[in-house]
Amino acid sequence: MMMMSMATSEHPASSPLPSNLYKPTAPLTATVVENTRINPNSANAVHHVVLQYPEASGFYYVDGQSLGVLPPGQDAATGKAHKLRLYSIASPSTGEAAYGPNSVTLCVKRFSYTNEAGEQVLGVCSNYIGDLKVGDTVQATGPVGKSFLLPSNPHAPILMIATGTGIAPFRAFLQRRHGGQGLNSQGESLLVFGAQYTTDYLYQSELEALQAKHPQVQVLTAFSREQQTEQGERLYVQHRLYQERARLIPFLQHPEATLYICGLRGMEEGIEQALAQAATEAGLCYDTLKTSMKAEGRWHVEVY
Ligand code: FDA
Repeated sequence: MMMMSMATSEHPASSPLPSNLYKPTAPLTATVVENTRINPNSANAVHHVVLQYPEASGFYYVDGQSLGVLPPGQDAATGKAHKLRLYSIASPSTGEAAYGPNSVTLCVKRFSYTNEAGEQVLGVCSNYIGDLKVGDTVQATGPVGKSFLLPSNPHAPILMIATGTGIAPFRAFLQRRHGGQGLNSQGESLLVFGAQYTTDYLYQSELEALQAKHPQVQVLTAFSREQQTEQGERLYVQHRLYQERARLIPFLQHPEATLYICGLRGMEEGIEQALAQAATEAGLCYDTLKTSMKAEGRWHVEVY
């Protein structure tokens, strides 16, 4: 077990970026203090799970990083212990507000698929996490993530584009910047959240409360099975981005603006097309804009 001497309650930008403080060979033992299904009326269960760990563990994380979870048991095919799965941390680096420092929150969708025999197969780790009870212990690793982090200037504008549980790191960002969790950012935080149905609007009341209190927090939504474009297509996040191009393009031209994309693998393609079209119509070279944002560490994608 690796020990760090650093205080765990506050993690200023000057703290070294933590990386794999705990590894699968000697994981962190954390205790479940909350497991709430946050979309009770949806067909796809998503759980908000808060874990607490001992202060003496020296574990800490930075906003935007992910935690590894080691599900118990073995892989039936290989007979080997299950491999770790990564989950974006949904609490700010100061900890989940209701539980204080030394807590870490995950936002986990129960995964399942239908195999070739037509049987429903439950994802190993997400269903293990979904079933956890308060008081259970979890073996965790990490944290991991070196680039999907907040800009060093807390007042820099950020654009966050999420689908489903892709909201997790953005909840951490918003709490940290505007939720009384240390940064008190005056910078704009624009979130575009997409899901199939309004019943999958994760953290809706929390996001609406932040938006009502802080004019610099703006949340746009796209519910693809309930809303349509003017052309009668399902409305996805990229359509919302394009609809908002009049403010989005100036937003991205800010020299410190940072863009983040998180959620379903494949979502980047449509987003890139929408941004490219909007930029071109505004007389800008999209490739130049993207290349310079990437080179300056202001363009981050985390999809799974
Ligand atoms: P399990 O691993 O058991 O099953 C998934 C596997 O089943 C697939 O990898 C594939 O091999 C196989 N499979 C899938 N469909 C199949 C089909 N139709 N036929 C046959 N085989 C099929 N998740 C989340 O809920 N919240 C989060 O915040 C994050 N964050 C995150 C960050 C990062 C950086 C990564 C890389 C990933 C995430 N994830 C996540 C995803 C998470 O790590 C994990 O992949 C899912 O929870 C699924 O894991 P299970 O163990 O439940 O499924």
